[in-house]
Amino acid sequence: MSFFSNKSEGVMGIDISSTGIKLVELSKGRSGYDLTSMARVALPRDAIVENTIIDSTAVSNALIEAVKLAKPSTKNVALAVSGNAVIIKTIHVAATTEFDLEAQIAFEADQHVPYDVDDVFLDFFIQGVSAEDPEMMDVVLVACKREVIEDYQLVLNEAGLHAKFVDCGVFALENAAEITDEHTVSIEDEYMSPDEDAEVNALINIGANMMNINVLINGRMSFVRDQFYGGQNLTEEIQKAHNMSYHNAEQLKINNFSDIHADALEHFYVGLTSELVRSLDFYSASRAEFPVRKLFLSGGCALLPNITTELEQRLGIDTMILNPMQNINIPSRQFNAQQERDLGPMMMVPVGLALRNFDT
Ligand SMILES: Nc1ncnc2c1ncn2[C@@H]1O[C@H](COP(=O)(O)OP(=O)(O)OP(=O)(O)O)[C@@H](O)[C@H]1O
Ligand SMILES: [Mg+2]
Repeated sequence: MSFFSNKSEGVMGIDISSTGIKLVELSKGRSGYDLTSMARVALPRDAIVENTIIDSTAVSNALIEAVKLAKPSTKNVALAVSGNAVIIKTIHVAATTEFDLEAQIAFEADQHVPYDVDDVFLDFFIQGVSAEDPEMMDVVLVACKREVIEDYQLVLNEAGLHAKFVDCGVFALENAAEITDEHTVSIEDEYMSPDEDAEVNALINIGANMMNINVLINGRMSFVRDQFYGGQNLTEEIQKAHNMSYHNAEQLKINNFSDIHADALEHFYVGLTSELVRSLDFYSASRAEFPVRKLFLSGGCALLPNITTELEQRLGIDTMILNPMQNINIPSRQFNAQQERDLGPMMMVPVGLALRNFDT
C-alpha cells in the first residue's frame, strides 16, 4: 500500500461505444508501453443509439463491471466524443500573440459552430505554421455540445470515475496510429509544404454504428469526418438474407463467417464503398492535389476476413490494417496475449485515449 504514490494521478482510456465499454491502461516500461489493465464489457443494443446514451444505468453498470474486471490503478478517465455533437475545423489565423489568438478563436468559433456558444465546450490547438503561408498558423478548433459531455460525466461519476480528458475519436485514432509500425510518418518540426511526394494516409476506424475518418498529409490532420455506417449494417444484411434474429446474425458473422450469404456481404461492401467514396470526395473537394494513397483500417470491422482486398479492389487504394497492440507488451501472466493481439485493431480508440497518460 502506498499513500503517497502519485499513481492515482494517471489516466486510463475508456471508449464508451455502441456495442460496449473498452478500458485500457498503459504504463511505460524500459522496452516501450506495457498493458497494465484492460476490459471489454458488452452493452445491450439500445443502451447507446447514434452516440446518445439512452440507458444510463446500463452504461454505468457496464463501467462498474469493466473497473471490477480490469482493476485499474486510477479513477481518472480519458474519454472520446464523436459524431454530430462534435465540430472540428481547421482555421488559418495570422501568427499573433496568445491574447489576440484567443479573441480570434472566439470570433471564428462564432462563425463555424452552428450551436449557441453557451451550449458548447470549445477548445483549440495550434498545428503549426500554415503550409500555404508562413505568416499564418493552422489552428484546429473543436466544439462539443455541453449536454453530450455532461451525459458522459454523469455515467462515469455513477461508476465512481472522473473524466479528466475529453478527446475526439479521430484524435485518439491518430494517437494510436503513431505507435504502429505501418503508420510511421515523422512530423517534422518545420512542416514542409506538401508536394507531389506527400504521404497522404486515411485512418479509418469502422465500428458497429459509425466510422471515423482522419486524412493526414505528411502526418498533419487535414480532414476529419464521422459517418453512421459500420458492422451493424452487415449484421442487418445477414439478418435479412438468413432470416434470423439480430443476435444470431451477429454470432454467425463472428463465428461462422464463411457461411454468410454472398449477397449480404456484397450489399454491405457496396454500402461501405459508397460511404467511403463520399468522404474521400469531400476531402478531395478541398485537397484535389493530394489524393489519398493509403487506407489504414481499424475498428471491429477491420477483423472481417478479406476486408483489405475487398476495399483495394473496390476503391483502387492500398489498404492495410493497423494494430496498436503489436508494439505494446502484453504480460501473459495477466492476459491472453494472443487474443489481445488478434483483437488489437478494435482497440485503437481506447489505446489512443490511454496514451494521453504520457502527454507532457
Ligand atoms: N471477428 C470479427 N469479425 C467481424 N466483425 C467483427 C468481429 N469482431 C467484431 N466485429 C464487429 O465489429 C463491430 C464492433 O466494432 P467496435 O468495437 O469497433 O464498435 P463500437 O466501438 O462498439 O461501435 P461504434 O463506435 O460504432 O459505436 C461490430 O459490428 C462487430 O460485429
Ligand atoms: Mg467505436
